[in-house]
Amino acid sequence: MTFIIAIDGPAAAGKGTLSRRIAETYGFHHLDTGLTYRATAKALLDTGLPLDDETVAARVAREVDLAGLDRSALAQHHIGEAASKIAVMPSVRRALVEAQQAFSMREPGTVLDGRDIGTVVCPNAPVKLYVTASPDVRARRRYDEILASGSEADYEAIFADVKKRDERDMGRADSPLKPAVDAHLLDTSEMSIEAAFQAAKSIIDAALNRN
Ligand code: DC
Repeated sequence: MTFIIAIDGPAAAGKGTLSRRIAETYGFHHLDTGLTYRATAKALLDTGLPLDDETVAARVAREVDLAGLDRSALAQHHIGEAASKIAVMPSVRRALVEAQQAFSMREPGTVLDGRDIGTVVCPNAPVKLYVTASPDVRARRRYDEILASGSEADYEAIFADVKKRDERDMGRADSPLKPAVDAHLLDTSEMSIEAAFQAAKSIIDAALNRN
């Protein structure tokens, strides 16, 4: 049987970096499920299809190719915004969750990160992590990242955006962002990436030893 690591948390909490590092360490396949929502949104935007027609969006979601997902092509802010809008649609979620569940079964193990992995996509995962940080710390990290990439950034606008995205992700009726009851909480507000990784690693090692 495959070994599944479910990682959830709000935008810019450090899930991506942590998930990639965990997947690399254990030689597991990694799926950033946010990219499946982003790819659906981008396909709609590129073809000029409406973002508010659930039937159309679900049809596009069923065609998303997990093998072709690439964050650099999907990172733009307006794509994230559109992704968060179509992510409230139950039939879009059903289509993408099905593809994500198929991915989660790959051998020898998988790491999936997103908003509803521990609660909906892989409720039986032996390891569930909920990675979070205060909105201020997350906005600050995103701000520093943008500056480091050589672009200009407006901290107040980024902070407002982080809060708005949280409200949409946590407030939707279908699969809202929340920790699974059996998730380990990792608050990275005052923790380095290295410390967060070490904490995650001890949790995973303990679970692997039980398996
Ligand atoms: O993590 P991200 O910024 O790439 O995600 C983009 C949007 O996709 C996010 O605002 C909500 C949605 N999403 C979701 O609803 N469920 C997931 N498992 C992953 C992402």
